[in-house]
Amino acid sequence: MTKSPIKLPTPVFNDEKRHIRLYQGDSLDLLPLLPESSVDLIFADPPYFLSNNGITCHAGKMVSVNKGDWDISRGPEANHEFNRSWLAACQRVLKSNGSIWVSGTAHVIHSVGFAMQQLGFKLLNDISWVKPNPPPNLSCRYFTHATETIIWAARDKKSRHTFNYKLMKEFNRGKQMKSVWEIKPPEAWEKRFGKHPTQKPVALLERILLASSHEGALVLDPFSGSGTTLLAALRLRRTAVGLELSHEFLAVTLQRLTDTLVRIQISFSTLHFSLDLFSDPVDRSDRTWNGRPSGRPACSSGLQARGLSQPNGDASPNANAHSYMSPDLKLVQTELRFYFIGRQSLSVIFSAPASSLEDALHQFRLSGHSQSDALFIIKSETSIFLA
Ligand SMILES: C[S@@+](CC[C@H](N)C(=O)[O-])C[C@H]1O[C@@H](n2cnc3c(N)ncnc32)[C@H](O)[C@@H]1O
Repeated sequence: MTKSPIKLPTPVFNDEKRHIRLYQGDSLDLLPLLPESSVDLIFADPPYFLSNNGITCHAGKMVSVNKGDWDISRGPEANHEFNRSWLAACQRVLKSNGSIWVSGTAHVIHSVGFAMQQLGFKLLNDISWVKPNPPPNLSCRYFTHATETIIWAARDKKSRHTFNYKLMKEFNRGKQMKSVWEIKPPEAWEKRFGKHPTQKPVALLERILLASSHEGALVLDPFSGSGTTLLAALRLRRTAVGLELSHEFLAVTLQRLTDTLVRIQISFSTLHFSLDLFSDPVDRSDRTWNGRPSGRPACSSGLQARGLSQPNGDASPNANAHSYMSPDLKLVQTELRFYFIGRQSLSVIFSAPASSLEDALHQFRLSGHSQSDALFIIKSETSIFLA
């Protein structure tokens, strides 16, 4: 009897329209089940192997460095063997011109670089991701750790990798972008559905995706954690596959993805103009953002799920709108509108302009709905400016 080939398990999340899939499991088991030469770009943030019961400083307090069982070191040889195994599995699924980015601290990144050389990847760059305001070094016996390294490599020596050089130069105010990137750690709005101990900022992933892939590309993250790569892919119209071991982090990812999907759905189906959050990446490369980019409408809308902050971290939607506008623009209309997202359909089941949440709830009930029909409510504040 011939053995039937092992198939991928049912994904825990599958958006067939936008091709975003998330699987639970060990990436060493799942990667061999993905088709060979099928992926355009990989971002991997593997275990750091730094959970050694040491201490660090967080928000002014002394805390353990331990991230979880998945991060415990098994010794240098075993750690290196693990890195070689998953990197080899990633190389198999990359297309011939595909490339991979791997982030890590000193505990892991040298082994990753060596494994890449052993496997015949073509090293392209090593990026220093600089974190402004890093936590102080409590022992006072080392320099304060302020960077992580991200190695960028193509599948092999023959690969003709994608690099959107002009776009990166444009992001860097017309100068060639350097390999030192100063990007803030994840902001409060990125952690509102729960924290991941090594969560990467959306801005970092957006820069990586914009630099090295095109719209529609398939992006893979074999250690997807809280789903930052999938979220960036969704926002930038890439497709994505994520693999993750932990239930807890999969749950955070699901909330981040569904929240973004609902926002996108509203921006396309309900409003007549595109909202900031889908087409405008977070990465502004430290430039002062005074003028609005060409081609954008002279209007802006901020969405807020109840009790949540703006997607770009601003406390007030209007503050965001005004920071984009030049002083000669005239504010001609403002509107406060509430969108009720159905518990079953996960789409907008009712929307109304209202002066407050109570007023909106009253209208919702008058329309024949009970409050429990809504999974959540989004408050949208729109300002329209005459150019
Ligand atoms: C460094 S974190 C990734 C964080 C992620 N970049 C983010 O922004 O949230 C590594 C993740 O890999 C997961 N992990 C560890 N070993 C794994 C394995 N063998 N297969 C799949 N996931 C694994 C851990 O649960 C953890 O969430």
